[in-house]
Order: sequence, then structure tokens, then C-alpha cells
Amino acid sequence: MLRHAADQGITDVVNTVHYQHPKVETEEISSNRIQSEVQQLQQELDKNDIQIKLHCGAEVFFLPNLIRIKDDPLSTFNHGKYMLIEFQVHQLPDSQKQQLFDLKMAGVTPIIAHPERYKPIQDDINIVAEWLAAGCIIQVDAGSPLGYLGSNSQVASEKIIKNGWCQILGSDSHDNKRRNFCLLEAVELIKSWGEYDVDVLVQKNPKSVIDGTPISVDFEYEQEQNSNFFSRIKDRIGLS
Ligand SMILES: [Fe+2]
Repeated sequence: MLRHAADQGITDVVNTVHYQHPKVETEEISSNRIQSEVQQLQQELDKNDIQIKLHCGAEVFFLPNLIRIKDDPLSTFNHGKYMLIEFQVHQLPDSQKQQLFDLKMAGVTPIIAHPERYKPIQDDINIVAEWLAAGCIIQVDAGSPLGYLGSNSQVASEKIIKNGWCQILGSDSHDNKRRNFCLLEAVELIKSWGEYDVDVLVQKNPKSVIDGTPISVDFEYEQEQNSNFFSRIKDRIGLS
């Protein structure tokens, strides 16, 4: 996988282990263990002359405990400035807005992992703009615009990117088969759509996450006509 990544011109890879996800319930996901395994892998890369620098991070599964876990360095890329957060696919929990707000107020900027893959976002893309307005950063999976993660994710990712609502394009690669690195292919596709500054999404902003430096978000928000109006109204008055 990492050789394939290097061939695409990728120079840095962040190992974002699943964190408090039901999938890893029986695993020990600690900062020490992940750091030591990443170090071992780095040695293998160096030995094999694969020019990639590895970094430690995590993809935090949303639970209403973000303030408590933020002090674990693994949950915030070791610098306490960003937390990559994913939700379950079918439903956004009611507590998410308050939790993300509290995290932001505590100095940790939430990065929303692959919103295009969530059903509520596919139904109402404007939720992404609300996250941006609340100070969150948006990360889209490279496989989504390419259609590798289904047609609904493809359509939603295209809207997010074309609206200028995406700050980071992440490889989110999992294996050397169907979910391998496909960043270069995604970059070429997005460039073919027009004058997009894709380098910001794959170099400048990801570097800021690694370094713990600020990302500037400049977005315009005009509510889409075909959004799920009634669900939004219900949400506003707390009925959903
Ligand atoms: Fe994920």
C-alpha cells in the first residue's frame, strides 16, 4: 500500500487508527502502542527505501465524551489542536452539535470525517455548511468522487467539493485491494472539473493538521433548493 502511495507522489501518511469504534472494542488502542507500531513500520519503509513519512493520529468514533478523551494525545494528532471525528452512517446523534461546540471552545477544532458517506448528509447537504459555520473542518474521502464508495457518496462529495466546502481530501485507504490509496486519481478528476485549487486540499491543509497550525476556511452558504426542508425545520424546533 505504501509503495503504491509513494508512486502517486504521496510523501506523508497519517495512520488514523479507529478510536472507540465498536470495531476495535477488543483491541488496546493506546498512544504508546500505536506510536511503537508506527515506528516499526517507519523502519521497514526506510529499509525498503520507500520515501514516506508516517504520522500518528486517530479517527475518533463519535460518542458524547469528546471533552474527556481530548487529553489523550492519540485523539488529537499529539498536539491537541484537531480531532478527526466520524459518525455512524445512518443517523447523526442529537448531542453532536453541543459536543462539537464544546470541543471547539476547548481549543480543539473538529474535523468531520467523510460527511458525504452519511445518509443524513446525502438527504440534506446543508448540514455540511452548518458544521463549517460552527468552526469545523470538512474532510472528504478520495474514493468518494471516484464512485468507489457508492453513488450516493459520489453525488454528495461532488456537491461538497464544488460548493467549496471541503478543506481536506483524505485517502482513507484501508487495504491493498478495493480501498487502496487513490489520491492522485481523485486529484486529477477534481482538476478536470475546473479551476480548483486541489493542492490546498491535499498538501497545505493536511500539513496544517500534522503541524497543529490553523486552517483558514472561506465558504459561501446559499441553502440548496432541494434540501429536505421539513426535516430541517423539525431539527430547528427540536422535533427530530
Ligand atoms: Fe471512517
